[in-house]
Amino acid sequence: MRLHGKTAIITGGANGIGRATTEIFLREGASVVIADRDTEAGLALAQGNEHALFVATDVSSDASVADLVRRTVDHFGGVDIVVHCAGVAIAGTVTSTEPERWQRVLDVNLGSLYRICHEVVPHMQGTGGSVVTIASVQGMFGWPNWAAYAASKAGMFGLIRQMAVEYASDSIRFNAISPGAITTQLGANTSRLEPDFVQGPDSTAQDGAPTPAETKPRLLQSGKPEDIAQAALFLASDEAAYISGQNLVVDGVLTCSAT
Ligand SMILES: NC(=O)c1ccc[n+]([C@@H]2O[C@H](COP(=O)([O-])OP(=O)(O)OC[C@H]3O[C@@H](n4cnc5c(N)ncnc54)[C@H](O)[C@@H]3O)[C@@H](O)[C@H]2O)c1
Repeated sequence: MRLHGKTAIITGGANGIGRATTEIFLREGASVVIADRDTEAGLALAQGNEHALFVATDVSSDASVADLVRRTVDHFGGVDIVVHCAGVAIAGTVTSTEPERWQRVLDVNLGSLYRICHEVVPHMQGTGGSVVTIASVQGMFGWPNWAAYAASKAGMFGLIRQMAVEYASDSIRFNAISPGAITTQLGANTSRLEPDFVQGPDSTAQDGAPTPAETKPRLLQSGKPEDIAQAALFLASDEAAYISGQNLVVDGVLTCSAT
């Protein structure tokens, strides 16, 4: 088991990529704290597993994230790994994005990475650790109508590199994963969680429901949440002990082609 004896916080761990990461990490021997706003799904996932704990968390709140880390340390005695999957996808150009919407996307997606690391790094100093954040290929390349979302994901790369340098002497590693299109309910979940900030049917991500196009060869299809979870497992594990400050693209061949 690749994570035997480790404790991991997985934000957004109740659904989609985070849920797949939770399931794989539990199978690999980790104790997992599922940190999510979706209490129903989070509680159901943790139920009956002594190695899983659900903590209702809003990653846009300083107090909520501080409480999450405190409860993790109280319950499991420390924290070795964070996989930051919580996020929302709200569309808009720079001109159609009002200041409040811009701020909300930045706060939930990027401010949360600062917030979690601010709380968790002191608990990793002395023992080492691994932080993996789920960014996006949309932080690397432009797709029209995603100004705040793209900025929130691109900002992760700068913060990850910065922390990689600042805490290398503490043996704490920080990496990003940039998924391409992954089949989840990100759009529907964003609409449910952020009704004040979503504007109409076009303003959230298109959910990757399987379509006839999924008969395409695997590398040309949408990815599965497990594809990202396996990459997170590698970066979280000691197998990646010499990798920090990097961005691992997991997108089939989406961003390989110039056309
Ligand atoms: N699905 C894709 O195609 C894709 C592509 C690139 C990047 N991503 C990123 O992957 C991450 C996971 O998304 P997903 O596709 O699994 O979607 P998802 O909706 O299934 O998962 C996101 C989770 O985050 C939780 N969440 C949202 N806001 C929160 C908050 N303020 N506090 C705590 N939890 C909150 C939701 O309840 C949900 O469980 C996101 O950061 C997303 O931007 C997804």
